[in-house]
Parts: sequence; structure tokens; C-alpha cells
Amino acid sequence: MAKRDLINITDLSTEEVDEMLDLADRITAEPEKYQDACAHKKLATLFYEPSTRTRLSFESAMYKLGGNVIGFSDANSTSVSKGESVHDTMKVISCFADIIAVRHPKEGAAYVAAHSCDIPVINAGDGSHFHPSQTLADLLTIRREKGRLDSIKIGFCGDLKFGRTVHSLIDALLRYENVEFWLISPEELTLPGYIKEKMTGAGAVWHETRSLEDSIPELDVLYMTRVQKERFFNEEDYIRLKNTYVLDREKLSAAPEDMIVMHPLPRVNEIEVSVDDDPRAKYFEQVKNGKDVRKALILTLLKWKED
Ligand code: CP
Repeated sequence: MAKRDLINITDLSTEEVDEMLDLADRITAEPEKYQDACAHKKLATLFYEPSTRTRLSFESAMYKLGGNVIGFSDANSTSVSKGESVHDTMKVISCFADIIAVRHPKEGAAYVAAHSCDIPVINAGDGSHFHPSQTLADLLTIRREKGRLDSIKIGFCGDLKFGRTVHSLIDALLRYENVEFWLISPEELTLPGYIKEKMTGAGAVWHETRSLEDSIPELDVLYMTRVQKERFFNEEDYIRLKNTYVLDREKLSAAPEDMIVMHPLPRVNEIEVSVDDDPRAKYFEQVKNGKDVRKALILTLLKWKED
């Protein structure tokens, strides 16, 4: 049977995404039922870029499924520092593990990884490209909080140029009915043209704006993002743009009562800590949802069958 990878969220059909979210719901309801589902299986987490949530939630998910974890969080401590290629590293690790989650600063590295070995590869973030397992956590959060994925009015705010979580979530939501998009960013960090063309091609309604204040009353979901220092070549540009949007209690007071605030995290100061107490703040729920949906993802790619 051919192996499955997850490089972009569109590697899964909409039905498969929905089934994975259903499986995550069942895991949350009855975690003990799945506690040995990955006994004797190993996950390799290969992180060439820093991470807190993604790496540790994959690792925690695998341990809770009864499996084991190997890997690295600093490629400089491995033979990568001697010049080993992604291709060779993946071929080697596939001798030791059953499934790989890889994060890399270069766009396309996860695709190369998947084509270098015969075990499933999960893209845990490749440069400013894609972050599909975050997208699954985001979709689960929207579905749990709003009860649907169709007919959502969602605003993406901040760094839409380099924000891989934004790119992947747009790819996913374009496949649901009647989703309307607000793209809120400074001129220098607008969504890449090829994604806007994709949105137009899919018949989606989208609005590009600089104003968070004007957009917020319209939204069901506000998805805030960090301006990512590590993606800038020029520190001056980063300093000039980093505080363009700061969500505080005053701005949130103009939002609908049932709007939710999401953020893939880490945040720097684009959401004031005082917002955390507002019942609409769901970014720490996103983190929690990430663990069970990654369990569902691991089980699906390992072709585990439910009794
Ligand atoms: N959301 C996310 O990718 O967080 P980490 O960088 O901490 O993994």
C-alpha cells in the first residue's frame, strides 16, 4: 500500500479532513481507547527551526498513543552541521522510525524529505510556505467553537506574506462553502498574489484592507499573526512593521459578542495579555486542540484502523 504524506493540507481531501477532525473529537472524548494504538511505533521529530508547540505536541501525542519518539531540535548538533543533505538525513532516519515530522526554514524541504524515504512525512512548517498540522488544529478550533466550517467570515491580520499558517488555512477554507476573507496587513506584508489568484479562481469573496478597526465588526473569526523577525532581511523593516496591529480590549469591544480570536502562537505583542481573559480568546484552546488532532493525523498516516 502506498505511503501517505502531509506536505500541504490539500494532500487530504475535504472528506479526509472532516474524518480526521471527527477522529480528534473521539480521541478527546475517550483518550484511553487510543492509549496503545501506536505501541512499538516511533515518531522522528526533525526540527531544523525553533518550535515549542508543534514539536512538543507531536511528541506528546505520540507518547499518549503508546509510541516512542526520537529526533532533534537543533540540527547543528547532528551531521547536518557536516553538510549532510535533507535527502540523506531522511533516508537514514527512515531506518530508525515509522513516521517523520520535519520543520525546515526552506520552502519545499518537506516535499524533498517526503520523496527521499519510504515512511510517511509530515510537514511541520517549511519556511513561509505551509504548516498543515497547524491548519488541522485551526479547523478543529473553528469547528468546535463555531459549530461549522462553511459560511465563516474570517479576518487574517498581520504578516500575510510570510505567514505559513495563514497560507495553509486559506487553502483549507477555500474548499468549504461561502467562506468570506478579510486580509488585513501592512502594504509590505500583503498576501502573495498567487494565493489571491487562487481565492478568486475558487470564487471566494475577499477584501484587502489596512484597517483592523474597520474589519473587526464584520468577523466570525479573527486570526492574528506575528510579524516574523526571522523572515526579514532588514531589521529596520521589522522594527517599523512589528507593531502595526496590536489587539487590545478597546479594539475587541467593537467585535461581535460571538467572534473568536485565534493565533497560531507564539505571540510577541500583537495581542495584549489583557485580552486573554476575554471569553472570545481561543488561542490557548488551539494549542490544546493541536495535540488531539496530531494524534488523529499520526494514526491516519500510519493507517491505523478503528475497531
Ligand atoms: N504554531 C507554531 O507553529 O508554533 P511553534 O513555532 O512553537 O511550533
